[in-house]
Amino acid sequence: MTDFHTYDFNGKRALIRVDFNVPLDKTTYEITDDTRIRAAIPTIQHVLKQGGSVVLMSHLGRPKEGYEERFSLDHIVKHASDLLGVPVQFATDCIGKEANEMSANLKPGEVLLLENLRFYKQETAGTESFAEMLSKHGDVYVNDAFGTAHRAHASTTVVAKFFPNEKMFGLLLESEIKSVNKVLNSNEKPLTAIVGGAKVSSKITIIERLLDKVDNLIVGGGMAYTFVKAQGGQVGNSLVEDDCLYIAREVIAKAKANNVNLYIPVDTVIADKFDNDAERKEVNINEIPDGWMGLDTGSQTSKDCREIILNSKLILWNGPMGVFEMENFQTGTKDIALAIVDATKNGAFSLIGGGDSVAAINKFNLADQVSYVSTGGGAMLEYLEGKELPGIAAILS
Ligand code: 3PG
Ligand code: MG
Repeated sequence: MTDFHTYDFNGKRALIRVDFNVPLDKTTYEITDDTRIRAAIPTIQHVLKQGGSVVLMSHLGRPKEGYEERFSLDHIVKHASDLLGVPVQFATDCIGKEANEMSANLKPGEVLLLENLRFYKQETAGTESFAEMLSKHGDVYVNDAFGTAHRAHASTTVVAKFFPNEKMFGLLLESEIKSVNKVLNSNEKPLTAIVGGAKVSSKITIIERLLDKVDNLIVGGGMAYTFVKAQGGQVGNSLVEDDCLYIAREVIAKAKANNVNLYIPVDTVIADKFDNDAERKEVNINEIPDGWMGLDTGSQTSKDCREIILNSKLILWNGPMGVFEMENFQTGTKDIALAIVDATKNGAFSLIGGGDSVAAINKFNLADQVSYVSTGGGAMLEYLEGKELPGIAAILS
């Protein structure tokens, strides 16, 4: 592995795998959240400043078979140019004669974006000959696509073998790894994890792993009701995974054995239907009447969590407390976000990782008031689960 910081890019073409898989408006194709593009800019600018040129490659969405207009990276070109302050050239195919000529003719300071890699099945299949064709676009390979680092695809993993001595992480990928390692491997205490989201089943590996590391584990979101039911509470019509009740009991037991303060919400905002305009009331989380479902955490829970969070030095937040997408059921999630912001002001390090909590912190416009917001959804989850991410392993090997 080479070090991006000390590598001399002067006169070199850097082939940079970015994750420009950003949400687009369905009809206008306008970018609705450019976080991932902005996050890649420092890496690109670093290469350009040193007198290198840049070939960007990415996927967008999950096209089925060949070209589809809605998945064209053409929609990104203008905005990427604006953010970089340099016109971004565009190759309408990621391989082939035109793309090869364009990348070969790049001058120092110039940037070329290749069309969506996933217009070729060989990308997701990780086909070596396809990766080799991509490798021809650069003298050096930089992986800056943390969001796609959990995929063993041609451009994220296989291509690295064509750059045995000139492969490296970009600045974004490096800071993602640093941030999550700071939370998981630091000796600072107390460490608090807030894990929310709908299902116990999708978070169980993370929870199990965190129980070996954290001082406090706050469980929130839909999965809290499985914990409540596992302890004999009345959950009414709330979301419950009956086949995970034993897992919830195991988690409770493991927390006790490990001396982890496992916090399960004590009150909840219930609704008579899954609708923003439903009838609402706040009740003890163990006493949800039939016909009602918990869609958010209650005010006592917010107070308790705030105290835990404000006493923490390291904070990891993954998954919302309730259905924050609905205005009337966002308070529990917002209270957590605000507590994390205040803890951060007091000197704690806070990492927000994984799809929905990132969407929540963005919705509340608080992303710039926490220490780090990850650009990885699935990738962050897998990293937290302790899995080796193929995109990272390919650079390290
Ligand atoms: C993502 O948004 O999850 C990444 O860009 C990877 O995309 P994928 O889940 O379609 O592989
Ligand atoms: Mg994904």
